[in-house]
Amino acid sequence: MSIKEAEGQYGNEKNLYTEDLTKNSEEVQLLDNQDVIKSIPRWHFGMLNDVNRNISFGNGINMLELSGKTVLDIGSGTGLLAMHVARNNAKHVYTVEANPYIAKIATDIIKKNNLQDKITVINKISTDLIPGVDLPADIEVLISETVDCGFFGEGFVPSLRHAREVLLAKDAIILPSSVKLVAGLLSSQDVRNLNQVTNALDFDISMFNTFSTQGYFPVRLNSWENKLVSNEVMFYERILSETDNFKQTGVIDFVVTENAVVDGVVFWFELTLVEEGVMITNSPDNKTTHWMQAVQIFDHSINVVKGESCSVKYTTSDMAVDFEAVTTVKSQKS
Ligand SMILES: C[S@@+](CC[C@H](N)C(=O)[O-])C[C@H]1O[C@@H](n2cnc3c(N)ncnc32)[C@H](O)[C@@H]1O
Repeated sequence: MSIKEAEGQYGNEKNLYTEDLTKNSEEVQLLDNQDVIKSIPRWHFGMLNDVNRNISFGNGINMLELSGKTVLDIGSGTGLLAMHVARNNAKHVYTVEANPYIAKIATDIIKKNNLQDKITVINKISTDLIPGVDLPADIEVLISETVDCGFFGEGFVPSLRHAREVLLAKDAIILPSSVKLVAGLLSSQDVRNLNQVTNALDFDISMFNTFSTQGYFPVRLNSWENKLVSNEVMFYERILSETDNFKQTGVIDFVVTENAVVDGVVFWFELTLVEEGVMITNSPDNKTTHWMQAVQIFDHSINVVKGESCSVKYTTSDMAVDFEAVTTVKSQKS
């Protein structure tokens, strides 16, 4: 998510955890602690100011029938979505937050908005939640906004799998309801330069590429000179209430749209929040999203010719998508 992926998932809050959270009188001291502040990823602010994101999730929640239902919100942040669920007449909302400092602030924000009787904040990673202990069994509705630019990187899939296996009723409603991934071939020396180096000041410093990111990383594509040099291919789709298997391997045969040097693959998600029609995407056409696009740069660039096809193998796992160019250039006609 915009700055989200660049700064890691939860910061290093686990090292900073102290008993402070149980001592309300030390709240001010807690907030003054620069180490704590540094441990909170900056992307939270960009995310919370992403009006389209907020309204889309808000509209999606509005479309659910929540009256009298018990809801689990995985990933509280400020408690924003939990509060919106509570406002929609849910019986009770359990919102779980792994970061202890964020969990503490969420508790305060919820209290400030006078919703403390309707919402319980639990400071845990959701996969540690125990039904009947932390929250009631057979939760009827799950909501979660824990996706990064490439959908998988923030741990949505393991959280969802655990929730479906352990926490949710069989017919529980899940928001978001489905995900699609769409990819295209990317030509951009500028974006390659974000993850690879060869020379500087006439020195060969290419050994630093030992530290190049192997998988996808977030790039705000519009910030850099770049071209999409293929058709856009929807290569992955899952309905989140219907599957436990998020693994998929396949080959995408992109159709090359101009003679170019291909540096890698850019991809993005199309997240359907409710099937009746609320969708959110971080496609390069969405100029206001705080999420960046997901890019994986190939080790070597590939020359491609307009009208021919370029095949790229992909593998998805619970936490990642990986791309590998399998053929350099293949004529579509052959
Ligand atoms: C992207 S933010 C979204 C916050 C809020 N739901 C919103 O939409 O404004 C995700 C938050 O979830 C937390 N988180 C992510 N995965 C989690 C998990 N499995 N269990 C508990 N907290 C999680 C992160 O620490 C982060 O604060």
